[in-house]
Amino acid sequence: MSAPDYDPKRVDALSPESLEHARAEALEALRDASSLDELAAAKTAHLGGSAPISLANREIGVLPPAARGDAGKRVNEVRGVIEAAFLSARAALEDERDARVLVEERVDVSLLPGTVLPGGRHPLMALQDRIADVFVAMGWEVAEGPEVEHEWFNFDALNMPADHPAREMQDTLWVAPEGSGVVLRTQTSPVQIRSLLARGLPCYVVAPGRVYRNDALDATHSPVFGQVEGLCVDEGITMAHLRGTLAHFAEATIGQGLKTRLRPSYFPFTEPSAELDLQCFNCRGEASRQPCRVCSDEGWIELGGCGMVNPAVLVACGVDPERYSGFAFGMGLDRTLMFRHGITDIRDLYEGDQRFTLALGTEG
Ligand code: FA5
Repeated sequence: MSAPDYDPKRVDALSPESLEHARAEALEALRDASSLDELAAAKTAHLGGSAPISLANREIGVLPPAARGDAGKRVNEVRGVIEAAFLSARAALEDERDARVLVEERVDVSLLPGTVLPGGRHPLMALQDRIADVFVAMGWEVAEGPEVEHEWFNFDALNMPADHPAREMQDTLWVAPEGSGVVLRTQTSPVQIRSLLARGLPCYVVAPGRVYRNDALDATHSPVFGQVEGLCVDEGITMAHLRGTLAHFAEATIGQGLKTRLRPSYFPFTEPSAELDLQCFNCRGEASRQPCRVCSDEGWIELGGCGMVNPAVLVACGVDPERYSGFAFGMGLDRTLMFRHGITDIRDLYEGDQRFTLALGTEG
């Protein structure tokens, strides 16, 4: 059988004229591309699936086998030329781009930096640290406890079993499901229990932290607020130690020369219990002479509760009340900050207004 009488050069797309035309058009388009994007478009047009050279390549498949070799060779030669032109155009455009970027994105390291407002700690955090510092300076330790707490720590061990009416004193947020026995702690007092159980004796700890109550947000109440707890348990501790410690604390935190007083009160976990009042730093107790909006003319500001640790609490923590005694106190941080700066609405503390925060300063 003789070779087919078939000349691929006579197939339109494979003819020398067509291939030359495809080559010339492609080289011109690649040469004219003035950006990498234009080059990519030219590549698609002249080397992509619908490019003349690709269509020509497809025609090879319909040729008789004996004619395919020659046709393939010529198509590949042209494709090779176009590909090489593309690679060299790309290299040139990339070099050009890199040189341009070096100039355009030049960084002048000798320029002065722009104004960057420094961040600052929130006044509540600053006050919390300041209070902790006062106690650390006296040799106390800082303790922490979880904000999601078991009722045993938050109530039972603090002499408030389930049916104790004192549980009503703090409107509690319970964690679902009902009956879980888990609460968002209503006070920092559970850290007393955790400290006595974990640290041993003697125990001198201060525990600042966030607490939660089902209180509606108004000018003096927040459902989330800060407290700072103090606990001292040792041999021979008396009410005089409590009085002296709190007087020092008030003077170091709020102001010098201000008197403190203890007013009888009730907490199930302290016996006897008291409220700690501080002489008003604004009118210095002279509200009777001129009106004072800081203390509402009382002359005194209530800082928090305190008292001698109830022996029932010591027993719950395995401490011998015959040998050891102690005192505890708990203060509201937010209200202390309000008193300190004459702030009349607690909500101002949480709104994140930087003018307010900066006006208060970061020293607490
Ligand atoms: C207690 O929480 C006791 N655990 C304090 C204590 C500790 C007493 C150790 C004895 C020994 P009380 O419920 O009074 O006590 O809260 C203490 C302080 O938290 C208050 O004086 C007040 O400053 C602050 N406080 C209470 N409720 C709110 C609230 N909703 N928003 C902001 N501050 C609050």
